[in-house]
Amino acid sequence: VKEAHKKIRPHLEAVAKDVIGRSATGEIRPADSVMTLEATRYTDQGLHDRDRRQIFRRLPLMLAASCELAEPGQFKTMDVAGVSILILREKDGSVRAYHNSCTHRGAKLVEGDGAANRFTCPYHGWTFAPNGELIGMPLREEFGAIDPCDQSLASFPVYESAGLIWVTLDPASQLPAKAFLQGFDQLLDIFDLESFTPLQRRTLVGTNWKLAFEAHLEFYHLPVLHKNTFGPGITNKALYYFWGPHQRLIQPIEGQGDAPQQANLFLQKDRPAETWPSDAMMLGEWILFPNVSLNFFYNGGLGLLISQVIPGADVGQSQTIQTYLMAQEPDDDARAKATAHCDFLVNVVRDEDLATSEKQERNLKSGVMQNVRIGANEAGIQHFHHWFDQIAETDDRALTGLFSYEGQFAGL
Ligand code: FES
Ligand SMILES: [Fe+2]
Repeated sequence: VKEAHKKIRPHLEAVAKDVIGRSATGEIRPADSVMTLEATRYTDQGLHDRDRRQIFRRLPLMLAASCELAEPGQFKTMDVAGVSILILREKDGSVRAYHNSCTHRGAKLVEGDGAANRFTCPYHGWTFAPNGELIGMPLREEFGAIDPCDQSLASFPVYESAGLIWVTLDPASQLPAKAFLQGFDQLLDIFDLESFTPLQRRTLVGTNWKLAFEAHLEFYHLPVLHKNTFGPGITNKALYYFWGPHQRLIQPIEGQGDAPQQANLFLQKDRPAETWPSDAMMLGEWILFPNVSLNFFYNGGLGLLISQVIPGADVGQSQTIQTYLMAQEPDDDARAKATAHCDFLVNVVRDEDLATSEKQERNLKSGVMQNVRIGANEAGIQHFHHWFDQIAETDDRALTGLFSYEGQFAGL
C-alpha cells in the first residue's frame, strides 16, 4: 500500500460509513434550498464567451488519460475553448502540452493521434522536436535572420497525477493544479489508472455544454429519462461529497450491479472499517470540475468511461467525448462485452441525455421561460454553479486564493 494511500484512507472511510448509514435509512443530505437560475445562463453568447475565457482558459483541465500516452512519442491533439492543443509524452517520460500551432505563420502543426519523434508543419515544412524546439526549416539561409531557439512551440502547464493529465490553457498560469484539485487526485490514485488500457473513443455532438454536463451531476432523471435503458427501477437519489469544486456522486442503495466482492462496499459493512478494501470505498461517479465525469463499470472486466464535455464556439454547441479504458488488456470475449457496453452508453447519452438537452435549450432560448429550478436533491448541480460563479468572477491575481487550502472536504 502506497504511503499516500494511507493518508487518504480516513477520507474514504468517512464517505463509505456515511453511504452505508444513509443507505439503511434512504435519507439523503439535500442542499438548504431550491436554487433558481436564469435561463440566459444557458443561452447567452456573451456569458458563454466569458465562461470559456474565465473557466476553460484559466483552470487545469483534465484532457487525457496517462495510458493514452503510455509510450514516449505518443501524442494526442484536441481543440478546447478555441485553443488547438498537442499533448505528447517525451523520452524522459514526462508529458508536455503545446499550442498546436506552427511558430512560422500559425498553421495547425499536427492532426489526430499517433506516435512521432518529430512534427513537420504541413504548410512550409518547419519541423519541431518533442521538446518543442524548432529543429528544421526549409531554405534556412534564404529565410533571413531569426534564432530558431526563439521559435519553440508555446507550451502549457501540465500536471500528471493518478493516471490522468491536466493542462492549463494559459502559458502564464500561476494556479497550481495540485491546489486546484484539493486532494481529489490523491483519492483517484487508488484506481491505478496509469495501468489501464484504452479501448475506444467516441465523440457525440450536443447542445449547450452546461445542459449537457448537468445530466452528469444528478441521478434524479435516471429512472425517468433512462427507463428504457437503465430501467425504471434504478434509484433517483444521490449522495454528494465535495472536494473544492470537485465531487463524488453515490447512490444511497445496497447493490452495486455486478461489482465483484472486493469492490462491493455492502458486503464489507459488518466488518470493521479498517479492513474494508479501498476498492470497495471507491464507488460512484467522480466529477472533475469543470467538465469531466468518471464512471466505472464491470462489463468484460473493470472499465472506466471518461466523459469530457467540451464547449463549442457557439453557446448552443458542445461535444461529449467518451473515452473508455479497461483495467486489464481484454481478451476477445471481454473486448466484445466492453465494446457492446460502450455502444450502449453512447446510445444512452446521445439518444436520451443529449436529445433531451437539445429540446430543453430551445425552450430556454424562446424567452418564454425565464428561470429554471435546481432542487435541493440536485445538490451537485447547485455546488457546480456556486463554484462556477465564484471562479468566473474572480480575477487572475486572486484565483489561486480560492484554492489555498488543500484537501478541503466538505461532504459530510
Ligand atoms: S506555417 Fe508552418 S511552416 Fe509555415
Ligand atoms: Fe443521463
